[in-house]
Amino acid sequence: MSTVRVEKKESYAIVTVDRPEALNALNEDVLNDLHAATQDLSQTPGCRAMLLTGAGEKAFVAGADIAAMEQFTPNEALKFAELGHRTMNAISSSELISIALINGFALGGGLELALACDIRLAGANARMGLPEVTLGLLPGFGGTQRLPRVVGRGLALEMILSGDMIDAGRAYEIGLVNRVLEGDLLAEAEKYVSKMLEYKSGAAQRAARWALHAGMDLPLTAGLQKEIHQFSELFSGSDPQKGMAAFLAKQKPEFES
Ligand code: HXC
Repeated sequence: MSTVRVEKKESYAIVTVDRPEALNALNEDVLNDLHAATQDLSQTPGCRAMLLTGAGEKAFVAGADIAAMEQFTPNEALKFAELGHRTMNAISSSELISIALINGFALGGGLELALACDIRLAGANARMGLPEVTLGLLPGFGGTQRLPRVVGRGLALEMILSGDMIDAGRAYEIGLVNRVLEGDLLAEAEKYVSKMLEYKSGAAQRAARWALHAGMDLPLTAGLQKEIHQFSELFSGSDPQKGMAAFLAKQKPEFES
């Protein structure tokens, strides 16, 4: 039985980590199931985005599974960290727009999973942190690298070295989450995703997203070249023509992808 539930909608999918009895903690099964779900959705025609959340009322994901890690040898720790990175990288490098809906605790590996996503939405009750140092660990699913790239070096060091949790308001203030949602979280997040996809070219979104992600790992001049190349490549498809013709005719665009 899968530890991850996938609900496919017309243009996006809701992926739910489903281990509420352990606050959705990430063990090998969850990491493998999340990887498989990402691969499957990447190959699902028409699926353009993935909304990732956690089952139950309390947590998005409360971290890597502490019970599973307690007796690790260094080699087992290496394999587990590599497995986690494989899943996080599959999410960040897939062609899907990835949006984490943080509906409660996002701690340790849980926050690292949210950091592998393009966008983070939080419920008002969300609590986030990297408490690994309180367990004698470090954030080993990408947190030491992705958190400073999102909030900057000083704030990332503060979160990682203190292990303290922050609430949704503070996370919004430092740019760790894009929005704080009120009311029915899933319904609000679905509205957010739908609006992001509606009347936008999927090809253009994929190209822009790729230019941004690829460029962030490069010097500025090399990143700018990627952008020029992606811009020109778009014109080998029909979406630029469709989008601009619709604008000039004062109509809503109907894109190919
Ligand atoms: C395994 C976990 C867990 C975790 C919670 N549970 N977090 N099991 N791994 N990360 C389990 C609890 O043991 C408990 O099981 C059940 O979920 C409910 O949790 P409680 O602690 O009873 O709930 P509560 O008192 O409300 O406290 C919530 C909490 C706390 C503050 C989120 O559970 C907590 O601090 N969890 C650990 C958070 C953490 O340190 N995460 C980082 C992990 S290290 P039972 O059976 O008792 O009901 C990590 C490293 C990543 O992520 C990199 C690896 C390479």
